[in-house]
Order: sequence, then structure tokens, then C-alpha cells
Amino acid sequence: MGENLNVVGMLRTPQLRSALAEVCTDMNGTKFDLRIAPLELSAADASLPGSDLIIVEIDTRSADDVERLRTLVEQLSPGTPVVATAAEATLDDVRKLMRLGLVDVLPQPVQRDDVLAALEHASRVRKAARRPQAAKGRLVSVLKGGGGVGATTVAVQAGCCLAQTLQKRGQEVCILDFDVQGGTVALYLDLKDRTGLADLVSAQDRLDGELLRGAMTRHPSGLNVVAAPPDVMPLDTFSADFVRRLLDIVRQEFAVVIVDLPPTWCLWSFDILRQSDDVLLVTQMTVPGVRQARRQLDTLGAEGLDELPVRVVLNRYEKRWGEAVGLKEVEKALEHKIDFTVANDYRTVSEALNQGLSIADVRRRSKAFKNISKISDALAVAGSRKEERVEPHLANVPGR
Ligand SMILES: Nc1ncnc2c1ncn2[C@@H]1O[C@H](COP(=O)(O)OP(=O)(O)OP(=O)(O)O)[C@@H](O)[C@H]1O
Ligand SMILES: [Mg+2]
Repeated sequence: MGENLNVVGMLRTPQLRSALAEVCTDMNGTKFDLRIAPLELSAADASLPGSDLIIVEIDTRSADDVERLRTLVEQLSPGTPVVATAAEATLDDVRKLMRLGLVDVLPQPVQRDDVLAALEHASRVRKAARRPQAAKGRLVSVLKGGGGVGATTVAVQAGCCLAQTLQKRGQEVCILDFDVQGGTVALYLDLKDRTGLADLVSAQDRLDGELLRGAMTRHPSGLNVVAAPPDVMPLDTFSADFVRRLLDIVRQEFAVVIVDLPPTWCLWSFDILRQSDDVLLVTQMTVPGVRQARRQLDTLGAEGLDELPVRVVLNRYEKRWGEAVGLKEVEKALEHKIDFTVANDYRTVSEALNQGLSIADVRRRSKAFKNISKISDALAVAGSRKEERVEPHLANVPGR
């Protein structure tokens, strides 16, 4: 850390104040101002925005408290990290609190290591605020409406196409296979000498641009690939903090970063989505495909992510007579526009995947390639993020 940070504690009980005072001794010159202060006073407290970290004690059973905390975080964001601490918080409480944009939720009794982790985050935020804003590559997440709908195919093929387009501008594209238990990105690109995510997670304390490049394989199209681990690894091998730091580095190095997400939701996949500039939701025009896609959209809504720029890709699309009605029905069922279709072209797609090629090199004049190019063109259009914000890091969430 090595910095003199100013921490304010807005606490409910003297017991917590003395427990915290005991835990927070001798922390690199960090000053702790631990107050017994009701949360309703925090909105008007002019000293809070000037501090480096705010620790708030909250009663998770009180809806008013949660609402006040939301207001406080919104007032302070972006800039001042807030952590909450609550006695007997359930996993649901923690998830609810994290969605407010907190940095962390500290279980009680508060441990020294948890406070140190929060301080480390505060220190990174302070350093980032001093640095001139680094260029940040566009983050594109790929979600699927059901298994086998072609999400990885679309991600990989749009990635190859985009890599070719951006090469002309001197920019690079990479794809991260975060489908950590069943990822096929490297397989579909026939990249055998793959190291990828497994290497990066095992060397996570030394994560930097050089280590990242060393764990990547470059496809002839120019697409850079971080492969999924070759052996099945539990989802919680990858902490939200690791994923976040990795994305920060990748986005400094690449103009566009595509992430193939796992089929199961976990806190870090929500975290990736929250940071995304584009989300491609790939599905097919089948009853299960549409249902699953609708479930994904509903889940995003339930997680407070309904503002995400989601674009629906209908894969393996076959236009038959009267099909336009079908598309409209799908849109109605999804309550979302179909932004792209990709033609059902088994011959072209399987030839490409079997040989690890871009479909541009298999059948450039195919409908499937034209459709994929449209997706790639949309991703190539540089868009500005709505606003720069310091994303929450989920250092101590149980059940990660
Ligand atoms: N447009 C297409 N036309 C014909 N076949 C396709 C098309 N897109 C994908 N496929 C085929 O569908 C199969 C599944 O594709 P893919 O692995 O990309 O799906 P996925 O959604 O990533 O699956 P998973 O749930 O395993 O991650 C592949 O064998 C691929 O060849
Ligand atoms: Mg896949």
C-alpha cells in the first residue's frame, strides 16, 4: 500500500467501533475516523467525498438502511469506494449489497485481512485517479441462450473477421475463453500449443502485459487467444479480483476484447457483463433457444443489468417463405429486437471449425460470412462508454 489513506467508518454500535479500532492498528499510516453515525446523516456529510474509503455498518433487514446506502454510493460514485459490514449477512444480502456498487461486504467479526484488502482497493483507486486515463479496449461479452446454439462459433468467427478489419488500423483484437469448464475457442481455431487462462491464474500475483502475451496464442487471422484451461477447473478457482485485474490489463493492450462466458452464472460473470460495452446474446429459432434466451434477458433484468447494450444474434437462421412472421414472434417472445441473424450453413461452418479457419478463408461469398461481417462491423465501430466508473471488486463474497 505505502500510502496514508483516510478512512471514515459510519458505524451503528460502539462495540463495532472498538472491535474495528483494535483490528485497524498500524496500517501503513492509514488514518481511521470511526464514528457512531446514523446512515441518514451520511448524505449531508461533506467530509465523506474527500476520504479514500468509507466503511458503513448496515442492518440488512432494514429496507430504509439499504436505500440510504444506495443513495450514498450513488452520490460518491465514481471515486470513493464504499464497503459495508453487517452482522449475520446471508449470501442473498451480500449479493443485494454488492449490486449497489459496493467494493466489498465485510463479515463480522471484521478481520484485519478484509480491511487490508479494502485498503488495497482504495489505494488502487487513488492511484488510478492520479493517472491520466489509460486507453480502454472495448469489452464484448458473448452469452448463450442454451447450450450448443453457436455462441462460440459466432464469437470466434466475428473475432477473426474483426481482427482482419482492425489490423488495417494497427489495432489488435483478442478473445478470452472464460467458458472455463468446456471452452472450445482454441479447438475451433486449431490452436494446439495453448496455455491460456490456467497459466494466468496460477501466476496471478505477477499479472502484467508481458505475462498475458506469453499465455496467448495468435491465430493466422490476427486474433489473439487466451484459451480455457485444458483440464476442468472449478469456477471459483477464478476470483472476481483476478478476473477484474486480468480484464484491466487485456483492455490496456487490445482495442477489442471478446469474452466467451460460461453457461452458469457466477459473480465474476456478472462483473464482466457489468463492464461490457457490448453483449451478444446468441440463440437459435427453436422453442428451447428462445425460452433460454428470454431467461437470460430476465436474469440480467433481475440482477439490475437491464441497461446493458445487449444485441441478440439468431444463429443457424433459415429464411423460409413466411419466415418474417416467425422473426416477429421471436422478438415478441424475447421483448427484444433481433439485431443479427447468421445463416444456417453447416458445410461452411463445420469446414471452418474442423480446420481451425476463419470462414472468410473457407467460403468468403457465403451468406454466413456476410452475416458474421455485419456483426464484426458493428463491433468495430468505436463507441464511447456511457461513463467511466470504478467498478466494484468482489474480494470477499462468500460462495464465489
Ligand atoms: N451458423 C451455423 N450453421 C451451421 N452450423 C453451425 C452454425 N453455428 C454453429 N454451428 C454448429 O453448432 C455446433 C455448436 O456450436 P458452438 O460450439 O459454437 O455452440 P455453443 O453455443 O458455444 O455451445 P456450448 O454450449 O457447448 O458452449 C458446432 O458444431 C457448429 O459447427
Ligand atoms: Mg461454447
